[in-house]
Amino acid sequence: MDKIVIHGGQELRGTVHVSGAKNAALPLICAALLAPGKHRFSNVPRLRDIDTVEKLLSALGVRITREGDLLEADASNIDNFEAPYDVVRTMRASVLVLGPLLARFGRARVSLPGGCAIGARPIDLHTKGLKAMGAEIDLEEGYLNAKAQQLVGTRIHLDLPTVGGTENLLMAATLAKGETVLENAACEPEIVDLAEALKSMGARIEGAGTGTIRVEGVPELGTLNYRIMPDRIEAGTLMVAAAMTRGDVLLEGMVPEHLEALSAKLREAGADISQENGLTRVRGAGVILPTNVQTSPYPGFPTDMQAQFMALMTLANGASVITENVFENRFMHVCEMQRLGADITIDGKSAIVKGVKKLYGAPVMATDLRASASLVLCGLAAEGTTEVKRIYHLDRGYERLEEKLRALGADIIRVAE
Ligand code: EPZ
Repeated sequence: MDKIVIHGGQELRGTVHVSGAKNAALPLICAALLAPGKHRFSNVPRLRDIDTVEKLLSALGVRITREGDLLEADASNIDNFEAPYDVVRTMRASVLVLGPLLARFGRARVSLPGGCAIGARPIDLHTKGLKAMGAEIDLEEGYLNAKAQQLVGTRIHLDLPTVGGTENLLMAATLAKGETVLENAACEPEIVDLAEALKSMGARIEGAGTGTIRVEGVPELGTLNYRIMPDRIEAGTLMVAAAMTRGDVLLEGMVPEHLEALSAKLREAGADISQENGLTRVRGAGVILPTNVQTSPYPGFPTDMQAQFMALMTLANGASVITENVFENRFMHVCEMQRLGADITIDGKSAIVKGVKKLYGAPVMATDLRASASLVLCGLAAEGTTEVKRIYHLDRGYERLEEKLRALGADIIRVAE
């Protein structure tokens, strides 16, 4: 198992390119199931989660080829309709095959994901919505057995603006009979990216990016040829890396509008953020100011940036309160940050972070993807050597993070254990 070894203390400087977004690529690749033919994607990041979705779709009969950042998926001969437990438990986004399979073939068998390191993460809103569209869904030996002669459009009010639920229902609705209205839909940029891609296949969708999405079903869809949006969470992580090391970094290829909530908080913390010739420049301040953060669905502060922002606050000049409102157990990084000398107390869904003068390197263990990233950030700023273990979590969602950081001047290497 690989680990990452960081000798902290370097200020990051230079230009870094932001890769394609994992959380946009996963639903988009599943959307290929909606129509026969060859679907083409570009700007696909090289990540473990993309390998997993490739494996999953291949097992369903999709023929996938990859070259560089290009991925081609031929969904002409689907002969299996099951997402098995062994795949779903390693990647929850596997449940995104449910909507497309049900819409195109009228059947799907998808393992229930079970618990997760960051919260319970049920998928009841996905199934409730599909049932409202006429699907019959039963639970049998841990699997959801779903069938429908023809999904029928209806009005669905989501109890929560679930990202995956909105994506599954949006994909299902494209081939349903009549109009589907999704209310209290998620507004994340990845939803807009998915809707744009579906529209390019011939789907009729209005309102993606707002709380109400209307979909007029069509009898069939064409193939995709789509460039995946830049990864806003990778970009955000690199922005925090610049701020935390008091560096000066230019980010290439990010969409600044996707990161307004984070940028506002980074500015409050003293960082300088500007746009220069199409690039985003982040300059860290000598003194990091304490800044309170509450996570919430987009356009609020993203839960996927909570751990990284907490890393920054461990070195602030005072106390900050970081509140996690989206997932109930997303503070697993706190104990590891404490091993580096951070002063953090958890009180319910808030963490009180009292800034310390210095973090000191130590071996730490990653528990999930963003927790791993936050520990790498702490390591960059800590005095001495930090070893981050279990970085297979990091490899799920960051493309060559250590190489990108090294190119910016960090003393960081990957070591095979
Ligand atoms: C997506 O997960 C992302 N994953 C997550 O990215 C991200 O943290 C999350 O959205 C929130 O932004 C992908 O896009 C692949 P949700 P998803 O459904 O869709 C509750 C990362 O690090 N809920 O919006 O699973 C749920 O328990 C990650 O890249 C229900 O109660 O998130 C949670 O508390 C991890 N019932 C809240 O809603 C449901 O049926 C938001 O979850 C569905 C969700």
